[in-house]
Amino acid sequence: MRQKIVAGNWKCNTNLQEGIELAKAVDTVVASKGADDVVVVLGTPFTHITKVVETVNTERIGVAAQNCAAEAKGAYTGEVSAEMVKSTGANYVILGHSERREYYGETSETLNKKLALALENKLTPIYCCGEALDIREAGTQNAFVKKQLDETIFKLSSDDFKKIAIAYEPIWAIGTGVTASSEQAQEIHAFIRGTIAEKFGNEIAEGTSILYGGSCKPSNAKELFANKDVDGGLIGGASMKAEDFIGIINGF
Ligand code: 13P
Repeated sequence: MRQKIVAGNWKCNTNLQEGIELAKAVDTVVASKGADDVVVVLGTPFTHITKVVETVNTERIGVAAQNCAAEAKGAYTGEVSAEMVKSTGANYVILGHSERREYYGETSETLNKKLALALENKLTPIYCCGEALDIREAGTQNAFVKKQLDETIFKLSSDDFKKIAIAYEPIWAIGTGVTASSEQAQEIHAFIRGTIAEKFGNEIAEGTSILYGGSCKPSNAKELFANKDVDGGLIGGASMKAEDFIGIINGF
């Protein structure tokens, strides 16, 4: 179902105590100021998930892992499985973030395994896609993103596809302070929705939440979220301060 979603991605930041403090602060501001129709999600490090689930009102705030293993279980030292994530009380998992693709060599093939395990374990994948600056400058971003989708989530059954959310995150906007303009965001979100319609039909396309990520902050959230194909945001830096995060949530 198409929902307004604002998800924080804390990346590799905060120790456990800092993470709990941040979760408490977000819980408090969301309870007092957060619009009820916006789904709020916190994407925390694995080590924090259990505590964050205990700290926040999970009726109001969802918790996400930022990754999960490509295997169900077994001799994979250091990996955290989708089943483990689910058993903490988390309900979401961010998959395919450009940082994981770039620094950890995550391929479409790996992502397909992770997507299958996430769905099997009833985690909602927030699937990330988006192009680097050279691709944007060459004007081939639509073809690039379509290829990412074709190789991964477009292979899902329509029943499974309905369970995911998508985050479009142009790499040139991540952590750079440069945000896609409202027009650029709307244009590519509409393109993504159009390709979903071609693949799965209009009803499913209209029911898919497509979030924008990349230097989203309270000062630009309103303009970005006003676009008809932008259903929220995946927020890095600005999710690390409860006041900024609530400012973005209230951008709707
Ligand atoms: P910033 O909001 O810090 O640009 O990060 C975006 C992002 O990568 C969220 O997943």
